[in-house]
Amino acid sequence: MIANDIEAGDVIALLGDLGTGKTALTGYIAEGLGVKENVSSPTFTIVKEYKSGRLPLYHYDVYRLSNGDELLDTGAEDYLSGEGVCIIEWADIVADVLPEESVIIKIEYGEKEDERIVTIEQ
Ligand SMILES: Nc1ncnc2c1ncn2[C@@H]1O[C@H](COP(=O)(O)OP(=O)(O)OP(=O)(O)O)[C@@H](O)[C@H]1O
Ligand SMILES: [Mg+2]
Repeated sequence: MIANDIEAGDVIALLGDLGTGKTALTGYIAEGLGVKENVSSPTFTIVKEYKSGRLPLYHYDVYRLSNGDELLDTGAEDYLSGEGVCIIEWADIVADVLPEESVIIKIEYGEKEDERIVTIEQ
């Protein structure tokens, strides 16, 4: 699974419309990292930290931000290049400040209600 390949300093950019499952996918990756807490949406705090796994996980939801500079204003730079892993929901909003080597995971609705198409670019 994805979580086994994740290394310190990795950034995972999640793209996908409302409700496609970005938070749910973050939860699965967190579980794979050994995070014990349940992952919930950090919409109102921009970032939530989980320290109980193999690597520190910083889960961002930048839905309420307008651009990458606002993300940097929160002090994100240290995390983006740090010893933890960043997973960022709505990453297209802040794409201008994400590292070039970020892994991009795109989730789209499929034809059926419970169908999702997941594309990973590395
Ligand atoms: N794999 C799945 N199986 C079943 N239900 C799911 C799955 N993934 C997500 N859901 C359900 O879909 C809803 C939205 O999921 P989630 O919050 O993960 O989406 P999101 O993309 O993070 O949404 P937002 O755009 O609001 O951040 C939730 O009610 C969740 O329980
Ligand atoms: Mg979400």
